[in-house]
Amino acid sequence: MKRYLVTGGAGFIGSNFVHYLLDKYGQDIEIINIDKLTYAGNLDNLRDVPASAHHRFVHGDICDAALVDQHMAGVDVVVNFAAESHVDRSIGAPDDFIKTDIYGAFVLLEAAKKHGVKKFIQISTDEVYGSILSGSFTENDRLEPSSPYSASKAGADRLAFSYFVTYGLPVIITRCSNNYGPYQYPEKLIPLFVTNALVDKNLPIYGDGKNVRDWLFVMDHCDAIDFIEQHGTDGQVYNIGAGNELTNLEITDIILRELNKPRSLMTYVADRLGHDRRYSVDTGKIRSLGWKPKHSFEQAMIHTIQWYKDNPWWWEKLKTGEYLAFYKQNYKRDL
Ligand code: NAD
Ligand code: DAU
Repeated sequence: MKRYLVTGGAGFIGSNFVHYLLDKYGQDIEIINIDKLTYAGNLDNLRDVPASAHHRFVHGDICDAALVDQHMAGVDVVVNFAAESHVDRSIGAPDDFIKTDIYGAFVLLEAAKKHGVKKFIQISTDEVYGSILSGSFTENDRLEPSSPYSASKAGADRLAFSYFVTYGLPVIITRCSNNYGPYQYPEKLIPLFVTNALVDKNLPIYGDGKNVRDWLFVMDHCDAIDFIEQHGTDGQVYNIGAGNELTNLEITDIILRELNKPRSLMTYVADRLGHDRRYSVDTGKIRSLGWKPKHSFEQAMIHTIQWYKDNPWWWEKLKTGEYLAFYKQNYKRDL
């Protein structure tokens, strides 16, 4: 029985990964899911995961060394998703990014070393490379993160690598592009714009709206992590992406078209500080091992938009409390 320690498994990608593992391996695995349940962690994301010996939720902080040590015993594979993940928040208040994204990763690495885990997958991000106007970053390119979020992720990324070099911990690092899909907190571009459009609220477009991101369906990200766990080489970095590069205006057009909403909802607002113009990763390395995304962008986007349309119970309550207070305080505007 393979035992996973998944951190941040009540968040967007982590909860999708828990669903992915249980659907695929069912009775053959055990998952210990440690999540602090910050504003972004949500047990609704796991509501259809049956209570069983195969998934155990632990409400806890990855910075808590005693708790992490206790749950690391007997673990085969660590997948570290836990992080503060929103760039805008890191601009307003970087403290928790440094604590969780860097120190939390350190606590996990130490415990993994002590307990001799067989694989430690550090979920990094394509943002660690910084912006690129043309071409695509390979895994060997240098890191030039530009926000407190991406800088903290770069710190954890290199710290994980150092545990491979120095202590021989079997670490693999993944750097994925922008994800979309169900259960994404409605502060990120796609769920924010879909849920705003559904209630006829403005869609706040930063700057000129021509920043480019490469969009990957979340289940393809989960599939790539599982693939790398089995076929990747320790000490290596793997870029993950789908090559679906779109401007924010193009994403906005798709959302308005699918929801049959007017373009008058589009509102240009002040740009994000230090806003990276374009992300692009070369995914030749993981593709050469045999992985490729399974979902078409068009279909998975329509599925995603429909999911938010069908599940207002999931997002409506998230758009009233802490989320709204954060935006009002930091941007002096309602959404
Ligand atoms: P998210 O914000 O939706 O989820 C983060 C989860 O981590 C939440 O459940 C939160 O409660 C938990 N958490 C935060 N601090 C914690 C702590 N100290 N201890 C335990 N749990 C804690 O984030 P996401 O979008 O699902 O991203 C998951 C990971 O993937 C992050 O590491 C992020 O950097 C990385 N990533 C995200 C994307 C993307 O497009 N969303 C792309 C590439 C990489
Ligand atoms: O590239 C991977 C990264 O993708 C992950 O590491 C991060 O955790 C994840 O949050 C995401 O970062 P981005 O900054 O690219 O995502 P976000 O959804 O915040 O913004 C996407 C683009 O949309 C970006 O150019 C900013 C723009 N935007 C975003 C918001 C929230 C707007 O124009 N208006 C908005 O209200």
